[in-house]
Amino acid sequence: VGSRMKRPDRALLLVALVSISVLLFGLASAAPAPKIVISHRAASGYLPEHTLPAVAMAYAFGADYIEQDVALTKDGVLMVIHDIYLDATTNVKQLFPDRKRADGRFYVCDFTLAEIKSLRVGERVNPATGAPAFAGRFPLGASKFEMPTFAEEIEMIQGLNKSTGRNIGIYPEVKGSAFHHREGFDIERIFLDVLAKYGYTSPGSKIFVQSFEPDCLKRLRELGCTLPLVQLLPATAGYEAPAPLSTPAALLTPAGLDYIASYADGIGPSTTLIETSKGVPVEGYALVRGAHERGLVVHPYTFRRDSMPTVYSSFEEMLRHFYFDIGVDGLFTDFTDIAVKVLSGAGK
Ligand code: G3P
Ligand code: CA
Repeated sequence: VGSRMKRPDRALLLVALVSISVLLFGLASAAPAPKIVISHRAASGYLPEHTLPAVAMAYAFGADYIEQDVALTKDGVLMVIHDIYLDATTNVKQLFPDRKRADGRFYVCDFTLAEIKSLRVGERVNPATGAPAFAGRFPLGASKFEMPTFAEEIEMIQGLNKSTGRNIGIYPEVKGSAFHHREGFDIERIFLDVLAKYGYTSPGSKIFVQSFEPDCLKRLRELGCTLPLVQLLPATAGYEAPAPLSTPAALLTPAGLDYIASYADGIGPSTTLIETSKGVPVEGYALVRGAHERGLVVHPYTFRRDSMPTVYSSFEEMLRHFYFDIGVDGLFTDFTDIAVKVLSGAGK
């Protein structure tokens, strides 16, 4: 048939095919990205946070991304730990009682990798009282866990990606950027070197990089980082105002969101910037709407079944409300399994 078609007819057919392709591509690209579950400190609702067993559990639950907080050892190795201190999640006080600073804290960057590997990691406690941060979670002191390096955790997730055929992402947060620089470490450069070693180098890499400190994210851009970046927004600002803004709180204004959009791809607000701790909407969800208007994804933190506003009749109801009524694109949760069920429509 093609050989008998006249030239003008062929041209028309070509134009029609190109138009249909453009239309289909347009429809596909207009479709919203799927909402995601970010496993906060891995499956931390069930096992001690940031341990490899908790990572395996989060993976098996069906997380889309698993979160790592990272801080540096004395010998410049990135460890997966939430704090720049060791005393809330390890037995450092028992093993190295003389190594605290004047403020009474034991800093990750005062210990070598070998020393940190000798510590036992457990459930988070209040360092002042020794009481568990979440009473109903994994028992204190039970079983045996160690702290993974950032590289070890990436190898675990990438290994599972190979053996399962899935492609789960990582969602690392650089902890204490300004602190590490004061201690003489260029943490962003070390961080990017580890990521490059494991192939996280392009905007399409399965990763979001997060920080509370605008200067950290801007430093990453200065170093040539093209990965998706997320500006975390705390309930109460604990960092200095970035240069063009008068106060840290100004990041939450339209001008602040314009500023964030100049270097980041998303925001990670505390849930209390969207709703108060009693579940009352803050300014008609203006923050979420403002971010979306600027093309920023919105990934609030942290959703915990054992610490939530009483206004909701269940944890699932709260998750559904944020995902589908407020319209967030993803959320950080200690209870990955429940969020996965809610997104799949199975959560009751
Ligand atoms: O990174 C999102 C959320 O984890 C921020 O809070 O204190 O758990 O690191 P935090
Ligand atoms: Ca974090």
